Amino acid sequence: MSFDPRFFYDDYPRIEGEFGALSDVSLAPRGPGILFQVVRELDLPPDSVALDVGCGEGRHAVRLAIHFGFEVLGVDPVQRHLDLAREARRDEPDEISSRVSFSRGTVTELPVADASVELVWCRDVLVHVRSLDDAYAEIARVLRPGGRALIYQFVATPLLSDSEAAALFPVMGVVPTSMERVVTDVAIARSGLQVDLDLDVTSEWGEYAEEESGQASRALLRFARLRRDPDRYRAAFGDAAYDVMLGDSLWQVYPMLGKLAGRILVLTK
Ligand SMILES: C[S@@+](CC[C@H](N)C(=O)[O-])C[C@H]1O[C@@H](n2cnc3c(N)ncnc32)[C@H](O)[C@@H]1O
Repeated sequence: MSFDPRFFYDDYPRIEGEFGALSDVSLAPRGPGILFQVVRELDLPPDSVALDVGCGEGRHAVRLAIHFGFEVLGVDPVQRHLDLAREARRDEPDEISSRVSFSRGTVTELPVADASVELVWCRDVLVHVRSLDDAYAEIARVLRPGGRALIYQFVATPLLSDSEAAALFPVMGVVPTSMERVVTDVAIARSGLQVDLDLDVTSEWGEYAEEESGQASRALLRFARLRRDPDRYRAAFGDAAYDVMLGDSLWQVYPMLGKLAGRILVLTK
């Protein structure tokens, strides 16, 4: 579109205030709670066995036990995460803590028997995994016939340039191909799992967190400060920590710019 000075300096200023006011109105973005809503709709019986794959510090494993009465095993490769998760579990009443356990493992080597699980929950993990073929094959192995998997991950969009990806992904431990929508699609097709829901939440979690707590603006401001005075932060925390903080800031900002997009999948064996 060519620049039209008459529109820019005459027509547009007349509607600018009203337009700004309308764009200040929330579009009611869905936050991460949507994952629990999706699980509720699966209507799995209490006592179902659920795996939280890449459970981190165990928050969601505990919530799955609290909200749905599942028997939950959280699996993560990082010992520190397992230690923190076990500590957090101790704060829960016995009827919850007795339903949650944690074990070392990865999505490509899950420490459970074939066909032993009703729900695999895997939130924000698969971008770190080298072979999505192996990951989905393993998820399919552990699910009982009729079992479900709920996956959440970011995908890269065409707005993310090659140079942005090349700067961001190594720092964040992201495998570039695992950010490609089509690589996921092919891996799922090969696993034999059936796709029941494929929901793009694009920037919604980012908008939600921004509206709740200003998360993306804080990340943007942090990014600007880190860029303007790198030595201050490098001297205090070291180069590696500086790079991670810079990368993490972009990880929060890029979804708002449409460069990364949230994707939710529900699969059935
Ligand atoms: C961004 S955190 C997400 C943690 C948690 N699922 C959440 O949503 O808060 C990514 C997690 O994936 C774990 N992870 C990394 N590689 C993994 C793999 N190959 N298999 C399973 N988990 C992995 C990390 O240790 C980390 O806990």
